[in-house]
Amino acid sequence: MKRPRSNLLARLRGDASVAVLTGAGISAESGLPTFRGAGGWWKNYRAEDLATPEAFQKNPRLVWEWYNHRRDLVRQHAPNPGHFALARLESFCKTFALITQNVDGYHQRAGSANVSELHGNIMKSRCSGCGHECEAGAENWKDGLPYCSCNALYRPGVVWFGEALSAAVLRDAFITAENCQVFFAIGTSSVVYPAAALPQLAHERGAYVVEINDEATPLTPRASEFLQGRAGEILPTLVKFIQ
Ligand code: OAD
Repeated sequence: MKRPRSNLLARLRGDASVAVLTGAGISAESGLPTFRGAGGWWKNYRAEDLATPEAFQKNPRLVWEWYNHRRDLVRQHAPNPGHFALARLESFCKTFALITQNVDGYHQRAGSANVSELHGNIMKSRCSGCGHECEAGAENWKDGLPYCSCNALYRPGVVWFGEALSAAVLRDAFITAENCQVFFAIGTSSVVYPAAALPQLAHERGAYVVEINDEATPLTPRASEFLQGRAGEILPTLVKFIQ
């Protein structure tokens, strides 16, 4: 990795308030497919068939098949050095907030404490009837479908396309972006809103925006610094430079 600019290191060594937005790219090195990159889910499947309320209404078995497969992948794999480096970074910073679009829970497993899950968590289920929430595996499965005790179907505890994000989680994410001094956008294609608006807002409010991605995105021209490469290599090196 090329040495980060000294003003980034100085900011991180000082008392800068740091916000981080992560996307599927940070879990790619754990072995979880991304959505839009090579081998990404949306290269082979249509989001409309798997990740919308309409898809669940039309074919809940198919939707659950896909989510169960992804739950298996999350169980089989583990957080990587990128996740662990962010947990280390949090321990150096006076103010630190991690906002993730990922539903795998790997940041928490790596030790990050202040994590907001914008798109929910794949290891949770929510009843489509009464709204009851439970952990993966606690559902009552019958003929490939999970039922709640109220007899309605459970759905995955994630946010689908066409659904609103939790208003409270989103409000806090915007407040974080508005008030931070350094904003990291890591492993996200920066095309899915409202998450993609967060680094833009941070930039408009004067934050130093650092993008870490193995390729350029729509955010790149606005980033104060673009660290091109793998998050699992760049983040541990960055943390070493700060120490
Ligand atoms: P994407 O799959 O759209 O983008 C992943 C990004 O990570 C790409 O820009 C890659 O270049 C980059 N990348 C891949 N491997 C990397 C690595 N090792 N290090 C650094 N960068 C790497 O994933 P998201 O931006 O997270 O939403 O997608 C946003 C949302 O769209 C997801 O939360 C999901 C999806 O459809 C829903 O399902 C609602």
